[in-house]
Amino acid sequence: MKFFIDTANLAQIREANEMGVLDGVTTNPSLMAKENIRGEEACRRHYLEICSIVDGDVSAEVIATDFDGMVREGEALAALHKNIVVKLPCTADGIRAVKYFAGKNIRTNCTLVFSAGQALLAAKAGATYVSPFVDRLDDICSDSVGLVAQIVDLYQTYDYTTQVLAASIRNTLHILQCAEVGADVVTCPLSAIKGLL
Ligand code: G3P
Repeated sequence: MKFFIDTANLAQIREANEMGVLDGVTTNPSLMAKENIRGEEACRRHYLEICSIVDGDVSAEVIATDFDGMVREGEALAALHKNIVVKLPCTADGIRAVKYFAGKNIRTNCTLVFSAGQALLAAKAGATYVSPFVDRLDDICSDSVGLVAQIVDLYQTYDYTTQVLAASIRNTLHILQCAEVGADVVTCPLSAIKGLL
């Protein structure tokens, strides 16, 4: 299983990388804002810094919610570095954008997934990763690890190559539970990774 860190904080990315267990990074607009990175140019510079620290996939999320905007932002992000994966919301326009990028061999992470139906569409459109939101589902009293297991099973049944990236993980137990049901990747804060120790 791959370990990604879910942060835009360079010190934490460095620390996780130095532990020797880091396979990649996921970010989102609120994580960027938390580090005071605002505006397209500043975001691009920050992504390049992250790519210089970690030799692995770095998910960079678009802010646009319409197809044309996602394509414009996603193409600019993908052109930054070979390790950038364009993170797109699992909406109708987002699925259309996943399909568009798959046709251009640009890798994508289809995010904001709360159901197996969304995950099925993401895989069918050719997403590289799908991100079910584990702790956000727990917050609303839904069986989050069960959903991860269901997506893993579904992808195995149809030989989809989309990797299941268990996201929005805040507690260490969820890392183990997602590993047990066969998630390809977990992404979480450094504190949750350290909790394994
Ligand atoms: O990778 C998805 C993640 O960034 C969302 O996490 O903690 O806002 O639910 P959270």
